[in-house]
Amino acid sequence: MVRISLIAILAVGLQLSAASQPVPRNYAERLYYTLHSPSEDFEAAKHTAQLLNARFEGYVGELKNHFLISVDRPSISARSEVDEHDHTLTAFKALKAQKLDKRGDVSVRAISSIEKQVPRRKLVKRAPIETYEERQDPPVSENADEEQKANGKKITWWLDEPGAYLAMKKELGIKDVGFDNQWHLVNREQQGNDLNITGVWKQGITGEGVVVVLLDDGLDYESDDLKDNFYAEGSYDFNDHTPLPKPRLIDDNHGTRCAGEIAAVKNEVCGMGVAYNAKVAGVRILSAEISDADEAEALNYKYQENDIYSCSWGPPDNGEVVDAPKGLVYDAIVNGINNGRNGNGSIFVFASGNGGSYDDNCNFDGYTNSMYTITVGAVDRLGKHPYYSERCSAQLVVTYSSGSASRIYTTDVGKQSCTDGHGGTSAAAPLAAGVFALVLSIRPDLSWRDMQYLCVKTAVQVALDDDDWTTLPSGRKFNHRFGYGSLDAYRIVEEAKTHVNLRPQTHLAIPHLTKKPQPIPDLTGQDDHSKAFISTINVTPEMAKGVGLSRLEHVTIGVDIQHERRGDLEILLESPHNVTSQLAARRRFDTSTDGFGNWTFMTVKHWDEDPIGDWTLRVIDAYNPEQTGSVVHWTLNLWGEVAEDFDPNAQPIETPVETSSTVEEPVETTTASSEIETASASPSDSTSSSPIESGTSTPAADPIQTPGAEHADEELEVSPVGNGTNVPEHIVSSGSTIAYIAVGSALILAAAGIAYVAKRKSWADKGYKEPPMSNRTEGYEFDLFADDDDSEAEEDNEDDTGSHATSPMLGRDKGKGKMVASEPED
Ligand SMILES: *[C@@H]1O[C@H](CO)[C@@H](O)[C@H](O)[C@H]1NC(C)=O
Ligand SMILES: *[C@@H]1O[C@H](CO)[C@@H](O)[C@H](O)[C@H]1NC(C)=O
Ligand SMILES: *[C@@H]1O[C@H](CO)[C@@H](O)[C@H](O)[C@H]1NC(C)=O
Ligand SMILES: *[C@@H]1O[C@H](CO)[C@@H](O)[C@H](O)[C@H]1NC(C)=O
Ligand SMILES: *[C@@H]1O[C@H](CO)[C@@H](O)[C@H](O)[C@H]1NC(C)=O
Repeated sequence: MVRISLIAILAVGLQLSAASQPVPRNYAERLYYTLHSPSEDFEAAKHTAQLLNARFEGYVGELKNHFLISVDRPSISARSEVDEHDHTLTAFKALKAQKLDKRGDVSVRAISSIEKQVPRRKLVKRAPIETYEERQDPPVSENADEEQKANGKKITWWLDEPGAYLAMKKELGIKDVGFDNQWHLVNREQQGNDLNITGVWKQGITGEGVVVVLLDDGLDYESDDLKDNFYAEGSYDFNDHTPLPKPRLIDDNHGTRCAGEIAAVKNEVCGMGVAYNAKVAGVRILSAEISDADEAEALNYKYQENDIYSCSWGPPDNGEVVDAPKGLVYDAIVNGINNGRNGNGSIFVFASGNGGSYDDNCNFDGYTNSMYTITVGAVDRLGKHPYYSERCSAQLVVTYSSGSASRIYTTDVGKQSCTDGHGGTSAAAPLAAGVFALVLSIRPDLSWRDMQYLCVKTAVQVALDDDDWTTLPSGRKFNHRFGYGSLDAYRIVEEAKTHVNLRPQTHLAIPHLTKKPQPIPDLTGQDDHSKAFISTINVTPEMAKGVGLSRLEHVTIGVDIQHERRGDLEILLESPHNVTSQLAARRRFDTSTDGFGNWTFMTVKHWDEDPIGDWTLRVIDAYNPEQTGSVVHWTLNLWGEVAEDFDPNAQPIETPVETSSTVEEPVETTTASSEIETASASPSDSTSSSPIESGTSTPAADPIQTPGAEHADEELEVSPVGNGTNVPEHIVSSGSTIAYIAVGSALILAAAGIAYVAKRKSWADKGYKEPPMSNRTEGYEFDLFADDDDSEAEEDNEDDTGSHATSPMLGRDKGKGKMVASEPED
């Protein structure tokens, strides 16, 4: 008996350990596909694989609704590369077409779609190319004092006391030879322009017990500065499909440098990490193209052990791209939020992007624009906005990085190598990840939203003379270039100590529907933007009450906008308290004719604002009169903390929605019969091809498709009411579920999230014509895109002189191998 159970235990143990390591993919010899089963039907997926003569590989990472299957790669591969000739895709289509009465077909019915998995996505690192001058100039500032005054910093600092710096090093036992170069930790020249971290370390708060995983190009776990803090169990290489994330390519130094910023060991090598007793894991994804399945798996990799995901990459920063994680990659982010870190939510930290000088904007990057990620931009040593750092309304905070002829000193690839050449928003995000590790080490119970709230509450204003600072009704200040300001380690840790956990998230979605696309007036040459496209949604107290929205956090705006030249548009959201979020800014190089098809913009600028009243969308088209567009529809989504006394089972309320539009032509308003969507709608169910956070998705959502969600696309009755001035729309809500994450308890009853889902009849004017292709490049300096050598930089430091890759999927960070790597002097 005993022997049998021992064997059983062994068998279970073996199975478990086998399941915990990904099965290495072999894209050279096999073709991979994912099956999407919204009902999470494992057996159905397995059976469907059988019907397709494919090998069943199991779940895609931690996703319970996506499955991987594979077949031998046919030898005549050129032909089978084309999807139309792909045998497995064709066979799946044939299965779906069969009548659904046999057992096999029942399985197929539970599978909503199949997707071929090809390594094709190349994610771009966020390290900038430095200018010639930056590399020549010594990293000193002449007007440091004046700069500081301009930044409103206090003049007396602990460092002014004679011997204070040495005493601090002695007290903390700091012997790292490069520590003196780490101005981002203790800035002795521009006092105050640093993370303000020594007061945290002195309390013994050093990141113990927290794991930060670098999703990057590898991590040199053999480095003397990292090996003691390396967490092998949380690591994997999705590029070469090996267990350890060894940097193998010549320019695989990015992940190691970022890891050093976070958790370089306190020893005698190089410098120190922000959280020098935290652990770092490496998941290698940036050294080759990867498939969606692998990216999805990476984003949830060991997500009960890896607490914080530090991500210094994303779509290209060339100011031309609007790109977001879709389908299973998006599902993985939501899954991390719902189930990672024992249900408290993985902390995803993303660099805002380095496309500043190309007018790029982090609202166009679906990772940084997502409410599930903490978007971190850069501020330089003088407290200034570095030319490369992107602005946007989704940016939460900034931290220190390169600029003003100074860069970040950190660990490099090699046994005892260091560099003073790290920079870009790539270097900023890991510093924030390190600070969050300090916070989690004393408050592991904080949720992903608690962490964001702490950032909002404690960030410190920088660059006071910047014209974008706005005082909010909350009394806080926001700036699209700096978010709520620069992260202060001491302040956030102190605030975390007494922070009361937020209640679950709730969601109010109000679509603004019109029967026909509304033209966007062209305002070229006009300064007065009052004639821009304007559309207003009124939020009533009853609506907020209906979903139990008690405190506003994120606002997302789903739009469907057609335009012949996307980069011409500026999109503003004006709140009831006259707070204006810039959702989209003009982008000179964005000549796309795709418009914004179901793009969702996010803003954190309205945090803690009272949402009751008129929310106005303003779309300004002030360039290129010959290229025009129209607004098809938009949706206002308010996300925030649920009221303490909210009863999700209360009778649904009827909410009249007032909409108005100042567009000359009377708006025909539809009666949109809507319903509160149960929290079970997976964001990717009916919209697997739509960008992150499409208007009707619910967060914290359990990714099971319900019949209700399936019907979201159904045509509904549309009957025009009113006369176009102030037309009541009738929104009827029904059944809902909400989650209560009891404080200190692991109990989750259901996922939170309530949405009014718009159901609409097909638009009367669907026939959108392809815009004329002529004149598209008129008046634009495409010379700027020529590959520049650093030495050709003629403009000042503030100009990006980086080479601009011709392929949008290639990194602009090539050549960063040129960065100076210096051995520590002894
Ligand atoms: C920086 O930390 C110190 C404690 O070490 C604290 O007294 C000070 O207020 C912090 N700075 C800011 C701007 O909060
Ligand atoms: C959150 O974190 C705390 C502390 O680590 C843990 O006890 C709890 O189970 C976690 N999950 C939830 C849902 O609270
Ligand atoms: C918003 O601005 C308008 C016009 O500038 C003004 O009439 C209104 O009182 C302002 N509302 C608030 C809440 O400040
Ligand atoms: C936007 O979403 C709707 C409904 O989900 C769909 O019919 C439409 O084709 C989408 N538009 C674009 C441009 O993707
Ligand atoms: C539109 O309808 C409202 C009431 O629904 C009415 O007060 C108003 O006079 C009407 N306007 C026009 C232009 O018909």
